[in-house]
Amino acid sequence: MIENILKNEIKKNGIISFERFMETCLYHEKYGYYMKKLYTEDYLTPQYVTNLYGKILFKFFENFLKKLNKSVLVEIGAGEGILAKHILDAAKKEGVDLRYIIVERSEFLLNRAKALLEGYDVEFHKNLKGLNNISGIIFSNELFDSLPVRIFKRINNRIYELYLNENLEEVYIEVNDSIVNEYLRVINVSVPNNFKFEINLKAIDMLREISKKLSNGYLVTIDYGYSADELFKEYRKEGNVICHYRRNAHYNPYINLGNQDITCLVNFTSLIKYGEKFSLKCIMFKSLKDIINDIISEEFLTKYINNIKKKFEFLYLLLNFGDKYKVLVQKKI
Ligand SMILES: C[S@@+](CC[C@H](N)C(=O)[O-])C[C@H]1O[C@@H](n2cnc3c(N)ncnc32)[C@H](O)[C@@H]1O
Repeated sequence: MIENILKNEIKKNGIISFERFMETCLYHEKYGYYMKKLYTEDYLTPQYVTNLYGKILFKFFENFLKKLNKSVLVEIGAGEGILAKHILDAAKKEGVDLRYIIVERSEFLLNRAKALLEGYDVEFHKNLKGLNNISGIIFSNELFDSLPVRIFKRINNRIYELYLNENLEEVYIEVNDSIVNEYLRVINVSVPNNFKFEINLKAIDMLREISKKLSNGYLVTIDYGYSADELFKEYRKEGNVICHYRRNAHYNPYINLGNQDITCLVNFTSLIKYGEKFSLKCIMFKSLKDIINDIISEEFLTKYINNIKKKFEFLYLLLNFGDKYKVLVQKKI
């Protein structure tokens, strides 16, 4: 289905960008991956492994909420709401009354979240439009890595962008796009020759929009990714797009169209640098492991990690996500 939709669009325009291809595969209103399928068939996020993740995040957020004297939490890209449930349960156990707002683009996932969170006091939105003057924390877990990216390659000192022709074959077309030069200047990178790299302009648009909505408080981004220094190392010259299908990771986005996840490692330097332009000041950038290390206490251990099952879940969380997940906190100034 998606293949025909893509081919018809390409027939009209001659070619489409990789960004448009990724957007269609993941978010086509009817046939897009996130619009019809539960992603846990293909990959797991920590909340599907353990509710300890929600308890840890609640503790982490609580420190910031106390500073603000607020209790508002907005989760963007909340999927089917499992993490929201775990965070709200943790808050209740600690006697904290949260105002929780979910923003989820997929109606399919939003409806599942509404069913899961029946009886909980949660507000649901399809986008950020309805939100204003948020004073609290806006956060996301694996949102930015699911936003469609443009792909470029530097060949003989010229920059080319990746497009697809009507057979869905890759073609590189030279670009003279000031946005690319501006982006590379902002993140302070000079691209080596024969190097493939991605630019996530949707992430920058998202940051800009979030900043407008956040009047006072913090933006917390939790995701797979690295700083630009790491992403532009020689051994990453084939780029950072990864696909997930039936719990296997691979590098071919042109198969299982609309039925597999396509994701791209987040360039945290771009979030930090563009954030500064939108009055979001980086105050913390750490691995999840370091965040857990800061939070974990004797009290937490005896209260929540007190049997063999929980110990196993905790180890799984640390080993699978501790280093790979990064946590960026930006304060609205
Ligand atoms: C990789 S999934 C992560 C889901 C969930 N946070 C988790 O950790 O399991 C990304 C989610 O972000 C949602 N999403 C993508 N773009 C969005 C946008 N602009 N606004 C709100 N949600 C969005 C997708 O529909 C999907 O549910």
